[in-house]
Amino acid sequence: APDLAIAVLGCGTVGTQVVRLLTEHADDLGRRIGRGVRISGVLVSDLDKPRDPAVPTALLTTDASALIEGADVVVELLGGTTTARDLVLAALTSGASVVTANKALLATSGPELYAAADTAGVDLLFEAAVAGAVPVVRGVRESLAGDRVQRVLGIVNGTTNFILDEMTTGGLDFDVALTQAQDLGYAEADPTADVDGHDAAAKAAILASLAFHTRVALADVACEGIREITAADIAAARESGGVIKLLAVAERVPATADRGEAVAVRVNPVILPTAHPLAGVGGAYNAVVVEAEAAGRLMFYGAGAGGAPTASAVLGDIVSAARHRTHGGRAPAESASAALPLAGPADV
Ligand code: NAP
Ligand code: HSE
Repeated sequence: APDLAIAVLGCGTVGTQVVRLLTEHADDLGRRIGRGVRISGVLVSDLDKPRDPAVPTALLTTDASALIEGADVVVELLGGTTTARDLVLAALTSGASVVTANKALLATSGPELYAAADTAGVDLLFEAAVAGAVPVVRGVRESLAGDRVQRVLGIVNGTTNFILDEMTTGGLDFDVALTQAQDLGYAEADPTADVDGHDAAAKAAILASLAFHTRVALADVACEGIREITAADIAAARESGGVIKLLAVAERVPATADRGEAVAVRVNPVILPTAHPLAGVGGAYNAVVVEAEAAGRLMFYGAGAGGAPTASAVLGDIVSAARHRTHGGRAPAESASAALPLAGPADV
């Protein structure tokens, strides 16, 4: 069979590392998949921008349509919800499998994209969209598919965890810590998404949709970020024996007289006692606790942001999609999910 053509859309923090790993490990990956793989091109907006030497210049292009047309697997690492949506839909419609790290896109256009993937009979995989390298999407979507999840809670934004940690342990100012998080490649192109909790809310919506087999969108998540947290708040938390963390929580809410069982999802800063398993999660690390009826309490933990850790999750999805295209099979279909009601503010 001819080599699988992989189109990479985006060559920023994550795309650069994906191209590097795909290039360095092409032979190994081909053996694992059972078929050779090659990068057919890398979409960028500026051909003249200086690039990491690991990115072959000859692969760069600004022609998205031509790149997608010939691809078996399209890897979306652009960010944003407009061009990314159009190109992901074009890729799925053309019969390509899609791998994306774009949580904002999934949390706003997920149902439309899942439906397009189902219609085309191809994979839409997004392990990197939640908690970077940590395999929590696969854990909830596949390993726990037979259990009944009751609650998911965790630290799912590396930038805000890094900022809070640096303010707590390093005594840094908010702005200095944010600049460091940007320099380290943790923050979104517009860091407002991190600071105001929207990035964590998008991830919470994705996790809630998978855990409760329902459809939760970004707009359904009650959200408060860390912009208002001051050094005085952090000192007060420490004096009370706690630490401030930005938590995402998604949980089942019992039925009321007016409605059946529902789902509530929220993101907000919380003071955790230092003995809590999430209190010691430092830097840009993420950790997600999943409580399920039969499994009990599970914890997923590891690097939640940054180019190489995120690229690891993207590569895992590329291998899965490539194996399915080579040997048959598909990832679970999400478009069949039933709609559980969302709990109102009084329930949260
Ligand atoms: P980034 O550094 O800003 O890179 C974005 C890349 O996309 C750049 O190469 C840019 O081209 C290209 N691009 C953007 N819009 C384009 C357009 N309209 N046409 C052509 N090219 C376009 O972003 P990133 O940090 O790698 O993040 C990419 C995605 O991964 C986002 O969805 C993000 O949420 C997600 N993610 C990031 C991390 C992380 O730690 N950074 C972790 C998990 C998930 P130029 O290079 O020419 O400017
Ligand atoms: N900006 C995100 C974060 C990247 O800081 O968690 C990983 O999704």
